[in-house]
Amino acid sequence: MGLALHVLRDPLATLMRVAREYGDIVCIPVFRHYRIMLNHPDFIEQVCILQHTKFHKSTLTKDVTQRLLGQGLLISEGDFWRRQRRLAQPAFHRTRIAEYGSTMVECANTHMARWRDGEVCDIAEEMMAMTLDIAVRTLFGTTLNVKAEEVGKSLGFLMRYSMRKARSPIKVPENWPTPRNRRAERETQFLDSLVYGIIKERQAEGNTNPHNDLLALLMSAMDEDGTQMTPKQLRDETMTLFMAGHETTALTLSWTWYMLSENPAVEARLHEELQRVLGGRAPTVADLERLPYLRSVVSEVLRLYPAAYILARTSIAPCTIGGYDFPTDTTFIMAQWVMHRDARYFDEPEVFRPERWMDGLENRLPAGAYFPFGDGPRRCIGQGFALLELGMVIATVAQKFRFKLVPGHRVVPDPLVTLRAKYGIRVKVHFRD
Ligand code: HEM
Repeated sequence: MGLALHVLRDPLATLMRVAREYGDIVCIPVFRHYRIMLNHPDFIEQVCILQHTKFHKSTLTKDVTQRLLGQGLLISEGDFWRRQRRLAQPAFHRTRIAEYGSTMVECANTHMARWRDGEVCDIAEEMMAMTLDIAVRTLFGTTLNVKAEEVGKSLGFLMRYSMRKARSPIKVPENWPTPRNRRAERETQFLDSLVYGIIKERQAEGNTNPHNDLLALLMSAMDEDGTQMTPKQLRDETMTLFMAGHETTALTLSWTWYMLSENPAVEARLHEELQRVLGGRAPTVADLERLPYLRSVVSEVLRLYPAAYILARTSIAPCTIGGYDFPTDTTFIMAQWVMHRDARYFDEPEVFRPERWMDGLENRLPAGAYFPFGDGPRRCIGQGFALLELGMVIATVAQKFRFKLVPGHRVVPDPLVTLRAKYGIRVKVHFRD
């Protein structure tokens, strides 16, 4: 059994304990397999950057997400991945994504208009709905003919379905007609027909109706040899951006409100900065440069509550890491949850202190010590988009609202595919004076 029971019972605590007790490189037995856990920045740099060609994403990641993501960027490999990344990259250029800043503020305002002073809500659910709207609007513009909530329900079901599959020791094949498998099939078909429908409409329009959204950029992207993405590739990338983009950002926002609620001095300093720089007006993309404390709050939330709390890679060739030789097909894990709490790189690592980022800490850290967006060629393509969205939403919402955790509500990090709060984050909503 190895550590299987401990991992199932409390994965985060087990990872921390293993790293603290056994050091920088650890062999973890789980059932009849083993995983190599890397707890030193140099080893993480070897896998993600210096020897990256010797590794693929782990088969577990692929197994649980393939139905929804197909051959999308997150799980494709080799030349196919390289071409897709080359085609998608320009859509995420700084100047391109800056165009979405005002859409992000609009979506935040629409959601805020529903909140009432003194009401109690689950801020994690609210953030999920808000970022889903932002994802729909930035991916498809206004061309989606069903409600964002319907898309959210389908995506939500498919994500829970994938998570259960990842966690369950008994793997029921996807083509067995169980009620859950049949629903997964229906939800996938619903999302497919939606995305293929939009692609078809746009192909029929030709250039007569130019759109200004991510899908339009992906559709017009052309490789050096003049080829473009097929409808299937467009579908896979769109699903990938949807799934990789909205949930991670929603979780980071939820953890932000939780941290601000628990740290009134930080909240007050953030509010002071927002008042001084924005004075109550809506933020613009250019303002983010002038909000260093806001950026530090985001960095600190991503340190303590990284939505992607663990990365996994499987070797496709023999490799040497930390002086040990490993054969092909060895799985390595690198946990942001653990590295971001390492006292060798962060003073008082368990303390939420955005100030630590104010004097350029990020540039002094070695590669592999802080990697909320991964690192190397497979680094998150949406990092700039996410940082923009986090900045715009926090600046918009925090100027008008404060959230106070409901007394007695337990906030428990739950490491599924991403780092969620097990019982949600129940808060009381307060208008600011
Ligand atoms: C706070 C928000 C986010 C976090 C913490 C995050 C984190 C990550 C991490 C750690 C990876 C690397 C995974 C690995 O190496 O195995 C990744 C990859 C990726 N992310 Fe994000 N992400 C965020 C937001 C976004 C957004 C907004 C988008 C799209 C709009 C996005 C799209 C992607 C894609 C497509 C990949 C795969 C890139 C590739 O392999 O070429 N992410 N993300």
